[in-house]
Amino acid sequence: MDPSVSGLTQRLAEAGQSHLLQFWGELSPEQQADLTLDLQGMDFKEINGFFKNAMEVSSSSKHEKMDARMEPVPREVLGSVSRDRGSLKEWEQAGLHHISQSKVAALLLAGGQGTRLGVSYPKGMYDVGLPSHKTLFQIQAERILKLQQLAEQQHKIKCCIPWYIMTSGRTMESTKDFFSRHNYFGLDKSNIIFFQQGMLPAMDYNGKIILESKGKLSMAPDGNGGLYRALGNQGIMEDMERRGIQFIHVYCVDNILVKVADPTFVGFCVQKGADCGAKVVEKTNPTEAVGVVCKVDGHYQVVEYSEITLATAEKRSSDGRLMFNAGNVANHFFSFPFLRDVVQKYEPKLQHHVAQKKIPFVDSQGHLIKPDKPNGIKMEKFVFDIFQFAKTFAVYEVLREDEFSPLKNADSQDGKDTPSTAKHALISLHHRWVLNAGGHFIDENGRRVPAIPSLKDGTDLPIKCEICPLVSYGGEGLEELVKGREFHPTLMIDEHGVHELVKNGV
Ligand code: UD1
Repeated sequence: MDPSVSGLTQRLAEAGQSHLLQFWGELSPEQQADLTLDLQGMDFKEINGFFKNAMEVSSSSKHEKMDARMEPVPREVLGSVSRDRGSLKEWEQAGLHHISQSKVAALLLAGGQGTRLGVSYPKGMYDVGLPSHKTLFQIQAERILKLQQLAEQQHKIKCCIPWYIMTSGRTMESTKDFFSRHNYFGLDKSNIIFFQQGMLPAMDYNGKIILESKGKLSMAPDGNGGLYRALGNQGIMEDMERRGIQFIHVYCVDNILVKVADPTFVGFCVQKGADCGAKVVEKTNPTEAVGVVCKVDGHYQVVEYSEITLATAEKRSSDGRLMFNAGNVANHFFSFPFLRDVVQKYEPKLQHHVAQKKIPFVDSQGHLIKPDKPNGIKMEKFVFDIFQFAKTFAVYEVLREDEFSPLKNADSQDGKDTPSTAKHALISLHHRWVLNAGGHFIDENGRRVPAIPSLKDGTDLPIKCEICPLVSYGGEGLEELVKGREFHPTLMIDEHGVHELVKNGV
C-alpha cells in the first residue's frame, strides 16, 4: 500500500526519519510490503527518545565521573567457594530442596548474534570439538536433566526445572528447530519455553535510522537487558507464576562450564535473603573483557569492560589484588517477586548503553558502503542494570577453572575465549574430577601420568577425558566408576558406561 495512504509517510516525517522511504519507488512490491510491515511495527517517538537519552548518558565526561563513584563489593555480601568451604554442603542441600519443590527455573540468554565468533547460527548450536561433539545447548540440557534427577533421588519427589530460553528475531526459528530435531535432548518439551526479545534499529550519530539495503533497516537485538521487556510482553511472568517458580537462575549461552540452576548458588542466595545475586570470578588481569560487580553511588552495578577507564581497571588494593576484581560471569539469581517488580515497575527506567559500531549502510545515492570506522550506534540494555533496584544483594565467588570458560571468539593463535580454550577447560575439569574420585591415567607405555600435565611439545593439553552431564553434574557420583582404576585417554564416561576411545581407534 502507498505509505502516504497508511499514514506512514506522515509518521516518518514527524519523527525525522523520512529518508527510510527514499528508495520506495525502486523497491519491488514484496520489498515494499516487507518494509511497510517493519516500519508499521515501530514506535519512532520511543526510538528517538531512546537515542536522545542513550547519547546523553554515554557522553564521556559522565564516564570519567563514574570511575570516581565506584566502590568494590563489601565483604559482608560475599560468599566464596574457597573461603566458605564449610557452608557449601548446606547451601547445596538448600538449593536441591528448592529444586525438588519445582521452585527453581533456569533462564538462558541466547538472543545474541555471536558476531565475534563469526558463525551464522545461534551460539548454543556450536560444537567446540569435544570427543562427544556435543553442542553448548546439549551440555546445558543434560545438566538440567541430571540436576532434576539428583533432586528427585534425594527428596523422593518428582520435580522439574523449567528452562526459559530467550532468543531474538534472528535466532528464534533456528533455535527451536534445533531443539525439536534433537528431541529436546531428553527434556520434557512442555518445560522448555522459548520467547523472543525485541530488536532496535542502528542509528547514525544524528539519530537517523540506518538502512542496510534500500528496503531494509539495520536492526539488532536490544541487548540482553531486553529480557525484562520480553518477560513482560510475552506472558513469561504469568507462566512462572502458574508453575510456582520462586527462584530464577539467569545465565549466558556461551560458558561451557556453566552450572545451570546451580543449587549451591541458589541455596546461598536464598539463605542470604537476597532478591538478586551475581556469581563472580576473581578478575586478575586489568584488561580482561569481563564486567566488574561493584557499587556505584551506593547501588550495586556491573561496570562493563568497555565502560571503565584503564586507570580504574588497574587500581590495586593493599593486598596486591585488583581493587575491582569481582569479574561478572553473567550468572544471576533473582527471586520471583523481585523479577516481577523489575518487569512491572523498573524496566522503563533502564537506560540503553551505546556501542559505537561500523555499520554497513546505503548512502543517499543508493550505494552500499562498508565503513572502516564507526559511523553509528547500536543501543542495548544490559541484564545486570537492574541490580540497582535490589534491596538485598548477594555476590558469590567461584573458581574460574571450575565454572567459567566463555566462548566468544573464533580460534586463532593464542586466542582468548575460543572453541579451543572452552574445550580445554571442560576436559581439564573432567580430568580433575576423575583424579579427585580416585581414578588414574596411564600413558601408552602403561605408566601413570602425573596429575599436573607437563609441557610436552610446547603444549600443556590436559588428558582427554569427557564426562557426560547425565553421569555427573558437578563431579559427584564418580567414585564407583573410577576409584582405583587406570585409564588410557581418551576417557569417555557416559550413561552407557566407561569407555577408552583410543583402544577402539577413535
Ligand atoms: C557478558 C557480560 C559481561 C561478562 C561477560 C562474561 C552483559 C551485558 N555483559 O559480556 O559483564 O563479564 O558476559 O562472559 O551481560 N544476548 C542476548 N541478547 C542480546 C545480546 C546478548 O540474549 O541482545 C546474550 C548472548 O546470547 C549471550 C549473553 O547475552 O548469551 C552475553 O552476550 P555477549 O555479547 O557475549 O556479552 P559480553 O560482552 O561477552
